Amino acid sequence: MKQAAKPLLRALAGEPVWPPPVWLMRQAGRYLPEYRAVRATAADFIALCTTPDQAAEVTMQPIRRYRFDAAILFSDILMLPWALGHGLEYREGEGPVLPPLRDAAGLQALRPERVAGAIAPILETVRRVRASLAKEGFSETALIGFAGAPFTVACYMVEGSGSRDFAATRALAYSDPSLFQRLIDLLADATVTYLAAQIEAGAEAVMLFDSWAGVLPPAQFHEHVTRPTQAIVHELRRRHPGVPVIGFPRLAGLLVGEYAAATGVQAVGMDTAMDPSRVAQLVPPGVALQGNLDPLAVVAGGEAMAGGVRAILDAMRGHPFVFNLGHGIVPHTPPEHVAALVEQVRAA
Ligand code: CP3
Repeated sequence: MKQAAKPLLRALAGEPVWPPPVWLMRQAGRYLPEYRAVRATAADFIALCTTPDQAAEVTMQPIRRYRFDAAILFSDILMLPWALGHGLEYREGEGPVLPPLRDAAGLQALRPERVAGAIAPILETVRRVRASLAKEGFSETALIGFAGAPFTVACYMVEGSGSRDFAATRALAYSDPSLFQRLIDLLADATVTYLAAQIEAGAEAVMLFDSWAGVLPPAQFHEHVTRPTQAIVHELRRRHPGVPVIGFPRLAGLLVGEYAAATGVQAVGMDTAMDPSRVAQLVPPGVALQGNLDPLAVVAGGEAMAGGVRAILDAMRGHPFVFNLGHGIVPHTPPEHVAALVEQVRAA
């Protein structure tokens, strides 16, 4: 059993694998007709995430179509607040809606002791996907588990929904720093429980999505993004030394250097706005990079996409690198453009 033979795991371990392994954020989703078919049979999105049969099936769909180097567990970053007993609902066309958490009573209502039980169906999905990958002959495809990073999860819990700028969340972090800190720390602990359980169920790498890290000024970025991420990475490394963590501090800009050095993540996901060559100079040597094609270039296809792919490949040759997008694939992406993208990366 040469586990490290999977290209994704070799790249995350610091090896400049070429052509680079490739997978795409939100690779399972509405742009695929086979996803929409399963989605239509589920009562709602939470039911889809907590029905192992269906969640495992949609996790496998993009692997069967494109033979990606990674499968990513089909779930959502907001399933952790859900497991903590915080309300969660996905409204059609509106996105997630949660009760806004703005005071000590809201924090006290969270139930960390519920997490281990509530996540059982998600762990069952992880086991089924590992079994399906082996059974269907995808021996080179690694399984990635994931969670939202504490700051981004707190953004949705405090705001009560998505937002352009998470103004209420940032206001709370200024007006009641101790409450906000306690929320972040509670989420960091619960995230360790959640990710360690995914690893024990069969996840071979884990990713922390910090989609809103970039709304914070440097001092608060350090406090609410870098510090809890470092704590999570440290504890996961202690429990599961061989399992790499990919950090995705979206829109962190120049702070990505501090983030990579201080947190100890094995890999950094680059958002669309980052220049891969510059990021390579900012992060410690040996840290793998992942990213960062504009998802809209995949909607466009043709030379707009091919030129973007080429530029990233040229910049990353010789580095430990995983090809991906700079943010999630969008629903109106033509599936055949994804096929062309994978073909171009594999011809590098
Ligand atoms: O294929 C994969 O990448 C795995 C599954 C996955 C989903 N969400 C499924 C999903 C992953 C890794 C996520 C992460 C996630 N979820 C993030 C971080 C990455 C990012 O995009 O910044 C965030 C911020 C969320 C929160 C979230 N979930 C929002 C804001 C929404 C509504 C907007 C939308 O895209 O619909 C969701 C719902 C969601 N999560 C869908 C999927 C496939 C769409 C729901 C549906 O099918 O109806």
